[in-house]
Amino acid sequence: MSDKIILGIESSCDETGVGIVRLSDTGEITLLADQVASSVDQHARFGGVVPEVASRAHLEAMVPTMERALDESGLSLSNVDAIAVTCGPGLAGALLVGVSAAKAYAAALDVPLYGVNHLAGHVAADTLQHGALPSECLALLVSGGHTQLLKVEDLAGKITEIGSTIDDAAGEAYDKVARIIGLPYPGGPPIDKAAKQGNPTAIRFPRGLTGPRDPKFDFSFSGLKTAVARWVEAQESDGKPIPVDDVCASFQESVADVLTAKAVRAAKELGIGTLVISGGVAANSRLSGLAQERCAEAGIELRVPRPRLCTDNGAMIAALGAHLVAAGVRPSSLELPTDPGMPVDTVYV
Ligand code: KG4
Ligand code: ZN
Repeated sequence: MSDKIILGIESSCDETGVGIVRLSDTGEITLLADQVASSVDQHARFGGVVPEVASRAHLEAMVPTMERALDESGLSLSNVDAIAVTCGPGLAGALLVGVSAAKAYAAALDVPLYGVNHLAGHVAADTLQHGALPSECLALLVSGGHTQLLKVEDLAGKITEIGSTIDDAAGEAYDKVARIIGLPYPGGPPIDKAAKQGNPTAIRFPRGLTGPRDPKFDFSFSGLKTAVARWVEAQESDGKPIPVDDVCASFQESVADVLTAKAVRAAKELGIGTLVISGGVAANSRLSGLAQERCAEAGIELRVPRPRLCTDNGAMIAALGAHLVAAGVRPSSLELPTDPGMPVDTVYV
């Protein structure tokens, strides 16, 4: 097999991503381009992603983002050997834009098309920075839409959910808490920054689903968000100022504590030696710091890709496509449907 060029398209939420990788005949995957256009500013005043606005922004950004990715790689469309695209899970209209574009490029170039799972893409992102995954690893996926613990035995097909959030995603909790205390959307970065000046033990916020009878590997962040809202309301009704830095640090401590405690416990109980953390919230300084401490104590190898690879991007979809090509997986049909609720154990369609 000679080198292959795989192009990845991502449009499941508010980022239009186009990535290009090279798959060498030895199976090595090299990142050649990673271009992202974000519509996040258009959603900021609503405090969350507005699906219709996101879909329209994808339509406008798709071709320019493709052109920038080709420029970055120094290649042209005629060099592309296969196309991978996120076909779920995600926002219905947003997914349709990416999948339609991918079908058009695949048909015009007469190359195979691979419809892939966005969540598996987040795990594949790590291989672009740290190389191939071990034969078995645990992935903690934390983003605005997802919070899941996954057992990954094979990126090209065997991913099992160990636990997930029963209500809000971790990133969603950051975004909602930011709104409560008057910080901008998306809430992760400003809360992370303010928390550095605050005291994480100032307020003891609850740790969701950590009671003895609670499910061991599922998460809940809705009660935490409500606890922050109630605490802030009580301060306000007493006429006291809101210590924003302390609220951020104490909230962030609860999120990081629960995520890392459950992930490390799962790795230990399942006898898995490697933890990968990915998704937008993986960029959080306290989450990675506490994960580092707890993994070191437990003798678990920790892999966290750089923030650019953690948030939504096309490079991770290209990387997952390259794994599928290397594994000899059959391509998708040009009738490939989108699946907004695609389950994580379906890596490709
Ligand atoms: O993976 P991502 O880019 O998009 C989704 O698929 O959702 O994740 C976005 C989420 C947002 O909720 C944002 O607030 C959160 O990631 N986020 C962070 C940080 N940077 C982004 N959360 C905590 N700390 C951060 N530094
Ligand atoms: Zn994502």
